[in-house]
Amino acid sequence: MTMKNIPEHVAIIMDGNGRWAKNRNKPRFYGHKEGMKRVKEIVEASKEFGIKVLTLFAFSTENWERPKEEISFLMSLLKEYIKKEVKELKKNNIKLNFIGDLSKFPDDIKNLLNNSMEITSNCSDLMLNIALNYGGRADILQAVKRIVAEKIDEEKINEQLFSNFLYTKGIKDPDLLIRTSGEYRISNFLLWQIAYTELYITDTLWPDFDKNEFKKALEDFSKRERRFGKISEQINN
Ligand code: IPE
Ligand code: IPE
Ligand code: MG
Repeated sequence: MTMKNIPEHVAIIMDGNGRWAKNRNKPRFYGHKEGMKRVKEIVEASKEFGIKVLTLFAFSTENWERPKEEISFLMSLLKEYIKKEVKELKKNNIKLNFIGDLSKFPDDIKNLLNNSMEITSNCSDLMLNIALNYGGRADILQAVKRIVAEKIDEEKINEQLFSNFLYTKGIKDPDLLIRTSGEYRISNFLLWQIAYTELYITDTLWPDFDKNEFKKALEDFSKRERRFGKISEQINN
């Protein structure tokens, strides 16, 4: 399928698993399980649509405040996803990358994350970033701390340099940010990186966000005029 104006980098706040389950009188974990199926579907669709980078918000720095049982369920789902999918990702030439403070995870998960990044390190059709223990503010703070620790000259500090200290080092800023479940907020996802990102919010809950819903978001994006502060006439010339 060919579509025009495909964004190079799409970021997604995958929200609404709990409500999806609640609507069906099921426990929250049932929604997370169904949501995992959409991750697989959206990753495959991204490659098919010709997107180059997909960044998924899977676990925020604030999500540690959830009930213990839910956190451990999410951790086991994460392990299951990686163990099941890493071979398939490599076969599909998809590079897996994790962003966030991974030091907080237990050793077995850390090893799994590092191994899966290693296995897919030479893949180049699509880069799949999964944000884990990620917070936009934490990202900015860790960058500041490292810049200070490296005693970088004040004159050398500019936007380009700063970007290269973030977890998203070397990755183009998102062109499109999608949030499912109808919440009009960023919830501490990429803050610095979304300065000029186009936003798309849908009421669809994440477990219902299938390839067709994704296509709708991309079609909406294709009609936007990104002006970056300029005027329309400058963009069209
Ligand atoms: C998103 O769904 C998944 C994670 C944050 C891990 P939620 O679990 O936030 O679902 P709702 O928002 O409660 O419906
Ligand atoms: C944002 O969803 C985090 C992820 C999707 C991982 P939340 O469900 O945690 O966001 P809030 O708390 O409703 O803003
Ligand atoms: Mg939520």
